[in-house]
Amino acid sequence: MKETVGKILEESVYAPSGENCQPWKFAMDGSNINIFNIPEADVSLYNFEQKGSYVAHGALIENIVIVALKYGYKVSVKLFPIKEEPNLVATLTLDPTNPRELPSYQYVAKRCTNRKEHAHRKLSADQKKQLIETARESGLGELKIIDDEESLNVLGKALAVNEQVIFENKRLHDFFYEHIIWNEEDQGKAGGFYIKTLEFLPHQLKGVKLFKNWLILKILNKIGKVSRMIAKENSEKYANSGALAVVVARGNSRENFVNAGRVAEKVWLKATEFGLSIHPCTGVIYFMERINGGDIDVFSENHLEIIKSAYADIAQTFGVEGKTIPMLFRIGYADAPSARSLRMKPNILFDGGIK
Ligand SMILES: Cc1cc2nc3c(=O)[nH]c(=O)nc-3n(C[C@H](O)[C@H](O)[C@H](O)COP(=O)(O)O)c2cc1C
Repeated sequence: MKETVGKILEESVYAPSGENCQPWKFAMDGSNINIFNIPEADVSLYNFEQKGSYVAHGALIENIVIVALKYGYKVSVKLFPIKEEPNLVATLTLDPTNPRELPSYQYVAKRCTNRKEHAHRKLSADQKKQLIETARESGLGELKIIDDEESLNVLGKALAVNEQVIFENKRLHDFFYEHIIWNEEDQGKAGGFYIKTLEFLPHQLKGVKLFKNWLILKILNKIGKVSRMIAKENSEKYANSGALAVVVARGNSRENFVNAGRVAEKVWLKATEFGLSIHPCTGVIYFMERINGGDIDVFSENHLEIIKSAYADIAQTFGVEGKTIPMLFRIGYADAPSARSLRMKPNILFDGGIK
């Protein structure tokens, strides 16, 4: 079983996570897999109360359920089995069963983030229906898709507030640059974005290299409003998406975030089956989680205002005011990504029980 669990986890950790931080480790206890969150793995301003990481854990759990069945194990999931231990995200119990390869299995390895521009092609009505149904039948959350031009333009502007803030807030700026992996050979050693997966156009890449220097960026923002120009380019890219979609959670608890991650992964795997590309754009929604949680000192007055207004536009356009949005993504047709992000080998403690 030890060897099989190793294989199951090696395949399953291809789940998405914020900045590819892979915030998980595992301890086997008999036929149980205990999944732990590593809070230090993602200390970004986006990851308020580990909610972004919990979404990543949801995607991971969904993969484990699919992959384990292929290896002959049915999985029961218990989220946060010890109430006071927020880092023990789940205990999965594996029961032997007939091996079965679900249609989604082959897409676990194929799924990836694709940040390329979309072609001018909409999703078909049937694709949208099936994606929405995939979320609905999980019973864990809801998917809403928007693809009319007017709404996409509103959403494009709202989402690009993230880039404006990144290039005006030193803490976010520094975090972003600390998590860029510039050379291919440095991939797979730690989390972070391999530069090629960010799909910058040649002129953008020149800018990204120059703006690494905060002082230069500050001056350019003052004389040339560079952060606004970056936001404008991004807003156009977002507005030109085939569609934009949100996963709406059933509440705002940590369990709801994990479950929304499961829904997001189910939808992502289905979209991959359809040959569609997905690019999460979650900056504004996670800034808003932080603001709603009362942690506002990290933002300037102006940024608080534009984030709140952008979030209101997003919630209103999707018709989800007052609800929690743990995932928002562009979805559409695009050329294949220029590169794929790698993973570290999963850290598994055998016969470790609950620590
Ligand atoms: C909760 C969550 C939020 C994310 N938000 C963003 C985002 O705002 N922008 C982005 O480019 N990628 C985002 N991603 C995608 C991750 O960066 C991506 O999954 C990770 O780098 C691994 O790459 P892969 O999806 O190609 O395997 C997010 C992923 C998760 C799980």
